[in-house]
Amino acid sequence: MKLLLINVKSAVTATDSLNPSLRILDHPFIGIDGDRICYISDKKPEGKWEEFDAQEKLITPGLVDPHTHPIFAGNRSDEYSMRLEGISYMDIAKSGGGINKTVRLTRQASDEELYKSTRQRLLRMMSHGTTTIEAKSGYGLTTEDELRLIKILHDLDEELPIEIFITFLGAHEIPPEYKDKREDYINMVIEEMIPEVARQGYAKFCDVFCENGVFSKSESERILETGKKYGLIPKIHANELGNSHGVEAAAKTGAISADHLNYINDNEIRILKEYKICPVLLPATSFTLGLGIYPPARKLKENGITFALASDCNPGSCYLENFSLVQAIACNTMRISPEDAFIASTLIAAKALGAENIGVLDAGMQADLIIWNAEDYRDISYHYGINSVDKVMKKGKWVSF
Ligand code: NIG
Ligand code: FE
Repeated sequence: MKLLLINVKSAVTATDSLNPSLRILDHPFIGIDGDRICYISDKKPEGKWEEFDAQEKLITPGLVDPHTHPIFAGNRSDEYSMRLEGISYMDIAKSGGGINKTVRLTRQASDEELYKSTRQRLLRMMSHGTTTIEAKSGYGLTTEDELRLIKILHDLDEELPIEIFITFLGAHEIPPEYKDKREDYINMVIEEMIPEVARQGYAKFCDVFCENGVFSKSESERILETGKKYGLIPKIHANELGNSHGVEAAAKTGAISADHLNYINDNEIRILKEYKICPVLLPATSFTLGLGIYPPARKLKENGITFALASDCNPGSCYLENFSLVQAIACNTMRISPEDAFIASTLIAAKALGAENIGVLDAGMQADLIIWNAEDYRDISYHYGINSVDKVMKKGKWVSF
C-alpha cells in the first residue's frame, strides 16, 4: 500500500532550476509509492494510504555526497600529528606516508577486511543522513587490486541501502614499484586498467589526482580521454594543493565535475561556467589539512555558478563521514549561507553525479528522505558535532541501523 507521511512540520528542498533556491513547505503531506515520491502538497490526498506520523519534524531529501574514498585499510593518524607539527601533506607523502602508505596496507588487506571496514564507514555516512555517494577506488594501483576494490564497492552497493556511484581512480598516485618509471605506470592505466575496469562494468566515472608532483595536466588528459573512450565519464581532482591546471584538463576532456579548487583564478572560473563543469568543493579537506585556503564559493555564486559540496572521506586528508559537519565547515570557512550549503549537498551534488532522480523532494523523484531532530533546516549545519538524524528512508524503505 502507498505510504503517506503526516504531521510533517516542514519539508525543505531545493527547487530544480538553473538558479536554485529553497522551497519550504509548511505541514505538507508526502506520499510514497514504491521507491518514488508520488505526492507532495499541503492538502491531504484522497484514497487509501498507510499513514506514518512524522511527529512534527523536519523532512529533507537524503544528502548526496559526490566525492569520497571510503575503501581502504590502515590508519594515518600519525600524519595528523606530523602536520600539526608543521610538516606538509606533500612532504609526508614523499617520506613514505600519504596515499602510498594506504596503498601498501590496502593491498595486504583481505577482501573480507576491506568489505567490513568500508561497510562500517558507509553505515556511519547513512546514519548521518547520506543516502547516495560517489566512491572511488585508488588505493590498489595494480589492475588486480583496483578491480578488487571496485568489486567490493559494487557488492556493498548491492547489500546496503546506500546508493554508490563508483569511480575508477587508478591515477591516484604513482605506486612505489613504478617510482622511476612513471610513464610505464600511466601506460598501464591506459592500456590495461581502463579496458579491464570498463569490461568489469561497475564504474561510471574515471578520475585523476591532477596535482603538481602527482599527475600533470597532459597526463590527466590522456587518462581521462581514454576513460571516456571506454564509456567512463571524466571527473578530476583539480587545484587542491596548488594550481595544477586541472580546470583546463576538465574542460578539454568534458569532465562532469572538477573537485577541490582551492587555487582557482578568474580565467578558470570563466572556464567552469563556459564548459558547464560542476565544481565540487571539499572544504573539510582544507580544514583537516590546515591549508588555510578554501575554494572561493561566494565568488563562484556571484559568477552564476552553482557548486556541490562533498566530504572527501578518506584516510589521509579528511576522515569524516558526517555530512552535516561538512556543511557546517563549508558555511563557517567559505562564509556561505546554510541555504547554499544545503542546496550544494542535495540538488547540485546530484548534478555532479549526473543523477536526475535524487536530491529533491518532488513527485516523481526517488523516495530518499531524512526526518531530522531539528526545527529549522539551518540547524543541520548550525547545531553541529551531533547527529540530528532521526530516520532515513532510501528508495521508499526505512533504513534500520
Ligand atoms: O582528495 N587528493 C587525493 N586524494 C585524497 C587524499 C587521499 C589520501 O591522502 O589518502 C584527497 O584529498
Ligand atoms: Fe579526493
